Amino acid sequence: MEDINTYLSRHRQRLLDELFDLLRIPSVSADPAYVADVEDAALFIKNEMEKTGLDNVSVEETPGYPIVYGEKIIAPSLPTVLIYGHYDVQPPDPLELWESDPFDPVIKKTDIHPEGAIFARGASDDKGQMFMHIKAVEYLLKENKLPVNVKFMIEGEEEVGSPSLSWYVTHNQDKLKNDVILISDTGMISNDIPAITTGLRGLTFVEVEVTGPNRDLHSGLYGGAVANPINILAKMIAGLTDEKNKITIPGFYDKVKELSPEERTAMAKTPFDLTQYKKELGIDDVYGEEGYTTLERQSIRPSLDVNGIWGGYTGEGAKTIIPSKAYAKISMRLVPDQEPDEIADLFEKYFTQLAPKAVKIKVNKLHGGYPYITPTDSPGYKAAALAMKKAFGKEPLPIYSGGSIPIVPLFEKELGSKSILMGFGLNSDAIHSPNEHYGVFNYFKGIETISYFYDFYKEQLT
Ligand code: BES
Ligand code: MN
Ligand code: MN
Repeated sequence: MEDINTYLSRHRQRLLDELFDLLRIPSVSADPAYVADVEDAALFIKNEMEKTGLDNVSVEETPGYPIVYGEKIIAPSLPTVLIYGHYDVQPPDPLELWESDPFDPVIKKTDIHPEGAIFARGASDDKGQMFMHIKAVEYLLKENKLPVNVKFMIEGEEEVGSPSLSWYVTHNQDKLKNDVILISDTGMISNDIPAITTGLRGLTFVEVEVTGPNRDLHSGLYGGAVANPINILAKMIAGLTDEKNKITIPGFYDKVKELSPEERTAMAKTPFDLTQYKKELGIDDVYGEEGYTTLERQSIRPSLDVNGIWGGYTGEGAKTIIPSKAYAKISMRLVPDQEPDEIADLFEKYFTQLAPKAVKIKVNKLHGGYPYITPTDSPGYKAAALAMKKAFGKEPLPIYSGGSIPIVPLFEKELGSKSILMGFGLNSDAIHSPNEHYGVFNYFKGIETISYFYDFYKEQLT
């Protein structure tokens, strides 16, 4: 019998090396240039699952990228935990802002991570976090002490809205049957304030296209007389929020559930240092909806952001034109009980109305997802809290996160089970940004915590 921490220190280098091998595979799901790499990452996970001793390991083909499945059924009468994670990553751009190669992981010390952090795309979101689960089960299987059944379902399209996974889940309800879903794809407050995420925001994502004249025009010959789609798009975007930073789309807030004063007071007790927050982001002030705190603005209030905007000439020097077209990508984060499709329709209607007759508008609705809330009195939450307390020596706090994992509400609808969002990342991990990293501490603490979860979960149910 070997305890988890002895095991982790004995295998420390190997556990890092294996994660590094995975991080070297540039599995960017958004960019077709990486197709072969995304497939490679799936095979890597399959191989890891097999090495670990999971059964029925398979790379499940889908219309998109495969889902890697593996399971260990100890006994059919025992509870079953389904582990979800993703092996795909965000594009590494802008490359020039990385201090090291995004796909050549290195460990560097930071103020927050004196023990060092692993710098690579996907280190925190989600390869590092997903991999902890395979390694925790590796330990439990070697020690012969996995007390429940586990099923792993690791996908490769999370960063593009999980189109194939929703199809897969609806067609494999029996196979995926479980009592609770365990996910590490979120964060904590800090390394000494563990947390469990009990809320996620939903998402509506649209692309808009504004068309003016049928070709780029000379801005001297036509300037002042013909609508410039970029000027118009800028005005229209400005019209989406008012001076109080409320979103102006009619009906947008109709289904927003306001928190009770008690809930807001409880939330205000979450440790949060505004000065540190501003310093870390290099901003002199925060900005957002009037009447709400920063924590509220980024978690329990909806938001609207332009993610990218382009059109016209952006090369060297001057080119005097009125462009024919302008584009923007816009995301809206949603809170209970907003519905992603309904919000997309409201957006389209209002955005089209905002446009003068001089231009044509196209709204392309991309992926979306529902918001999610999970209670703190479920067996799964309690087990996660006990596991974190044992590993960190401190009770975790429940937190609402502003991020989205659209597949989580779908799991509840299709599989009827709650997801426990026991993540070990930090906001400072720079996920989706240059220089993404994941603390070495967080990696090993995560494996340790997960290894405690299963006994506590079984206890909760008996
Ligand atoms: N793991 C993140 C979501 C996340 C991170 C939630 C931290 C809470 C805390 C996930 O990979 C992600 O990036 N989701 C996307 C949505 C997806 C449809 C592209 C997001 O939130 O933008
Ligand atoms: Mn993720
Ligand atoms: Mn992500």
